[in-house]
Amino acid sequence: MKQSGGSEGQKRRAGESAAERVDDGTVVGLGTGSTAAHAIRELGERVDAGLDVVGVPTSFASRELAREVGVPLADLDAVDGVDVAIDGADQVVGVDADDGGSDAGVVLVKGGGAAHAREKLVDATADAFHVVADPSKLAAAVSVPVPVEVLPAARTVVADAVRERGGDPTLRRADRKDGPVVTDNGNVVLDCAFDAVEAPGALATALSTTPGVVEHGLFVDLADTVHVGTDDGVDVHDVTGGRA
Ligand code: A5P
Repeated sequence: MKQSGGSEGQKRRAGESAAERVDDGTVVGLGTGSTAAHAIRELGERVDAGLDVVGVPTSFASRELAREVGVPLADLDAVDGVDVAIDGADQVVGVDADDGGSDAGVVLVKGGGAAHAREKLVDATADAFHVVADPSKLAAAVSVPVPVEVLPAARTVVADAVRERGGDPTLRRADRKDGPVVTDNGNVVLDCAFDAVEAPGALATALSTTPGVVEHGLFVDLADTVHVGTDDGVDVHDVTGGRA
């Protein structure tokens, strides 16, 4: 499921650029994935140098990495809000003004690591949300399957509902275990391919209101900046949307 054409250098530059936006004395949402990992490592270095922050991890994996690099941690229900979140994406749609035509501003597709439920909770809660990506993630329209975390018992019912909307759901299988991927929340994931997503906002609403869906991977108009690491720098796009 997870694919990225980006280089480690591009991802590192994106992650470090976003981590530089973190101020002393703040609470930071720690995203999941290989690009967000660079931001967490950079925060670890800044903590070593004296930065005072508390990280709220979005997954088992981001918690483990933050512990390894020395970022102090707290659970979401133990902090008084999140100041800033940094997270990756599997696809970033609508950054180029020329793309146009969407009902939803900048849309992210997330969940390649099956962490999108906690990611959305933390990223949407944050006062500022910085996305980190390499150029291979930018697209004019949603063209990768949308991960949908569902209650295990709701798998077939939600799959039918997705088919009724023209989607093709596939239960995500584990690599080194018989059976499905089980999320950090004990649920399963349907990767839902759609031929064309012309109205991602409407699709997001439809998925959110389907009983049995815990969370889907469409992040609609949540991002404030998108940091795209290139071979020799970072392009920072200010995309503050509807929640500004
Ligand atoms: C985790 O579930 C995802 O939302 C990740 O943030 C996304 O897959 C990006 O990961 P990479 O930075 O590894 O491509």
